[in-house]
Amino acid sequence: MTDHIAPASHERLLIIDFGSQVTQLIARRLRELNVYCEIHPFQNVTDSFLKDFDPKAVIFSGGPASVIDENSPRPPESVFALGVPILGICYGQQVMMQMLGGKVTRGHGTAEFGRAYVEPQDTTTDLLAGWFLDGREQVWMSHGDHVAEIAPGFEVYGTSPNAPFAITADLPRRFFAVQFHPEVHHTPNGKTLYENFVKLAGFTGDWTMGAYREQAIQAIRDQVGDGKVICALSGGVDSSVAAVLIHEAIGNQLTCVYVDHGLMRKNESAEVVGMFREHYNLPLIHADESDLFLGKLDGVSDPETKRKIIGGLFIEVFEKHAKEIGGADFLAQGTLYPDVIESVSFSGGPSVTIKSHHNVGGLPDRMNMQLVEPLRELFKDEVRALGRELGLPDSFIGRHPFPGPGLAIRCPGEITRAKLDILREADAVYIDQIRKHGLYDEIWQAFVAILPVRTVGVMGDGRTYDYACALRAVTSVDGMTADYFPFSHEFLGETATRIINEVPGINRVTYDITSKPPGTIEWE
Ligand code: XMP
Repeated sequence: MTDHIAPASHERLLIIDFGSQVTQLIARRLRELNVYCEIHPFQNVTDSFLKDFDPKAVIFSGGPASVIDENSPRPPESVFALGVPILGICYGQQVMMQMLGGKVTRGHGTAEFGRAYVEPQDTTTDLLAGWFLDGREQVWMSHGDHVAEIAPGFEVYGTSPNAPFAITADLPRRFFAVQFHPEVHHTPNGKTLYENFVKLAGFTGDWTMGAYREQAIQAIRDQVGDGKVICALSGGVDSSVAAVLIHEAIGNQLTCVYVDHGLMRKNESAEVVGMFREHYNLPLIHADESDLFLGKLDGVSDPETKRKIIGGLFIEVFEKHAKEIGGADFLAQGTLYPDVIESVSFSGGPSVTIKSHHNVGGLPDRMNMQLVEPLRELFKDEVRALGRELGLPDSFIGRHPFPGPGLAIRCPGEITRAKLDILREADAVYIDQIRKHGLYDEIWQAFVAILPVRTVGVMGDGRTYDYACALRAVTSVDGMTADYFPFSHEFLGETATRIINEVPGINRVTYDITSKPPGTIEWE
C-alpha cells in the first residue's frame, strides 16, 4: 500500500515505520484521538512522497535496527525541512538524534527492557501537559542502544536510569524525541503524550465515523460510476458492513451472494438472509449449495484438503452466480486496515503456512474484476462503529468471528451431516449459556468442536456410546495470539450438563485450555 487514501480535506499525520512490532498501536492511539494517520515503511517515504502526502505532523516509529550500523534505516533528510512537528519514538528518537548531530552508543548500561520510571528534568513543554503529576511516570522501554549526546538545539525534559535522554525536545522546531514507547498499554499515561503532540501540531480531530461514512460513500461512487458490484456476504461483521455501506452508496448496482455451504451454525443462514432482506432490501442471492460442498467433502478428513476443497468450490459457486446476474465489474471485499499495512520485514523470507485461509482472493483475477474495499482504512472496532453508524443491529455488530470454512474445521476427521447436526445443537446451547451468563462480549470467540471419537457413558441406568465434544473460548486482540477464557467451574459444569441433557449424540464434554501459540484457535 504505497498510495495514500485520505482525501485532501482531512488533516493527516504520517507515521514512518522502521519495523517496530507496535507501530500499529501508534495508529490506534491516534485514531482514538480522531486524527487520520497512515503508516508507511521508511523505504517508501521519498522526498516526492512527503511533498505529495503533505503531513501536518510526522512520527518516527521504533524498530529493531541499530542506527550505529551502516545502512540502517533512515527517513529522508527533507522531512526535517517540512516545518511540521516530528515525534521520534525509540529507534525513531535515535535516528533523529543521529541525523541532527547527536550521538548514539551501545555498551554497558545502554539497554533497558520493560517497565521503567522517567523522572522530570523540566516540564515546560506542551508535550508534557498532564505528565509527572505524581512526580514520575511509568513507561515501557525496549532499547539496546541509547542516545549519549543530544543534537544541537535539543533540551532534556526527562530521564530514566538507563536513558539519560528519555524525553528530549527542540521546542522552536517542534521536534520531540522519546526513548520509550508511549503507544503501549504499559505506558499508562502514553495517550496523553499523543494527545498533547497532535494538539500542538494543530489537529482539530476531524476523523470521525460520520465524516468517514460520507467520504467512503463518495469514494465508492467515484470508483464504481455506473458499474456493477458483487459482494460475497458471509454474515460476518466485515462483509456485512461493507455491503451496507456500498448499498448506501450505489443502491441496486450492488448484488450480494450468500453462499450456504451447509457448514453454517444453527439458524445462521435464515438469520443473515432475513436480516438483509428485511432491513436493507438489497439484491441478495441465497445460494444453497450445501449438497455440492458436503458431497465433495464426503470421506475427507485431512484439514488442508478440506480447506482447499471449500475454497475452490466457493470460487466456482460464486462465479456461477455472478454469471447468472450478467457479471460484474467490481468485487467488494471487507479487507481491513491491519490486512493492508505493509510492515517492514527485516528478517525477510516467507512465513510458514499454518493453514490455508479461505477467502475470495483468487476471484478478481479470474473474473477480471476490480476490487472495492471500503473498509481498508479501518481497524476492527472502527468497522463496528461504522456498522452502528449505518444502523446495523448490535446483535450483528458484536458477533464473534466465524471462519470461512465454517463448521468443517470444527469437525476434525470426516464430516457427516449427522455430526454437523449434533455440533450445531451443542454449539447453540454453549453460546446460549455464554450469553445468559453475560460473558459473550468478554470473549473473542467461542464454539464447540465435535471430536472424532465416541466414548462410553451411562445415562438413566443405560449405557451410551456417543461423541465427545470440546468447548473452546478464547480472549484475543487480533486472533494472532490467544488465551483460553477462565470460565468458572460452575459455568463449565452447568454447560456440560446442559449439553449432555439437551443434545442427543454427545455424552462427554471437555474444555480446551490451550493458548495460541502453541495451539490455534480453530481445531483445524
Ligand atoms: P486460527 O485457528 O488460525 O484462527 O488460530 C485465527 C482466527 O482466524 C479465523 N479463521 C479463519 N477466518 N477464513 C476466515 O475467514 C479461514 O479460513 C479461517 N481460518 C481461521 C478463526 O476463526 C480465528 O478467528
